Amino acid sequence: MVAMNWRVWFVLAVGLVATISGGARAKDLVVGFSQIGAESEWRTAESESIRGEAAKRGVTLKFADAQQKQENQIRAVRAFIAQGVDAIIVAPVVETGWEPVLREAKAAGIPVVLADRAVDVSDPSLYATLVSPDVVEEGRMAGRWLAKRLDGKGSIVELAGTPGSSPAIDRGKGFREAIAEYPGLKIVKSQTGDFTRSKGKEVMEAFLKSGQKIDALYAHNDDMAIGAIQAIEDAGKKPGVDIVVVSIDAVKGAFEAMVAGKLNCTVECNPLLGPAIFDAIETIVAGKPVAKKISMKERLFEQGEARELIGNRKY
Ligand code: AHR
Repeated sequence: MVAMNWRVWFVLAVGLVATISGGARAKDLVVGFSQIGAESEWRTAESESIRGEAAKRGVTLKFADAQQKQENQIRAVRAFIAQGVDAIIVAPVVETGWEPVLREAKAAGIPVVLADRAVDVSDPSLYATLVSPDVVEEGRMAGRWLAKRLDGKGSIVELAGTPGSSPAIDRGKGFREAIAEYPGLKIVKSQTGDFTRSKGKEVMEAFLKSGQKIDALYAHNDDMAIGAIQAIEDAGKKPGVDIVVVSIDAVKGAFEAMVAGKLNCTVECNPLLGPAIFDAIETIVAGKPVAKKISMKERLFEQGEARELIGNRKY
């Protein structure tokens, strides 16, 4: 009986030391999440992943939808700081303009984890880690695939993401890098479609009306490609046949478009970041180091394999 009591005391003492040394368990954590909005299927899947993972681990998640506006994100981060949350997740709509608010979070001792998009700051210690795919590589993969498909020659139109956002910058960069070796390939038009279906459709309509010969469309996300596919059909052309279409994300909608023969290829960008983000947060609040960038491996999907794979897509 006496030995048993000592064991109980030992376990309690170890638990106490773990708590004092910062070993907060997930279920005790309060985390603020400033999300960009719900501009795409991808973004909704990411929000669900983060919400679902928080619920699974018993984390209290304070969710703020910024409606695509950086000023709303900055306001939300300041509110999280005032509430004294344990950590803050930010999916930054654009790259620049974050230094002041990140300094405030750092001064308050609250770690910031960036979700899927990077920030441009002079001091990298202003955030703890970035959980994101290799976005430049996504652009390269799309570019390499298209160069092969077009046999190194043709006119490409580009639907770019939100101006100033890291995926718009990096997917544009990676794609240009990949097609640079093919002098016969030209980007003849490039305009933002803001990562949305409606804007993708509107801009593609304008591209088609310009009379420019278009062999292929490169869209920085599937939603813009799906909007553009509608515009191509409305113009009496066959998307995926008359105009080759390649985009990024690999959401369900893209698989449906591939099965219908309207989208030729999509490069995966995994939105299911919840588990990696909360693993990182738990590590950080326990006072342990985390890598500055946490990435996941991704791949490219072609039209021919879409029918077989669509049933297993998780987003
Ligand atoms: O930052 C990731 C990008 O943002 C996704 O590709 C896009 O669909 C989203 O809106």
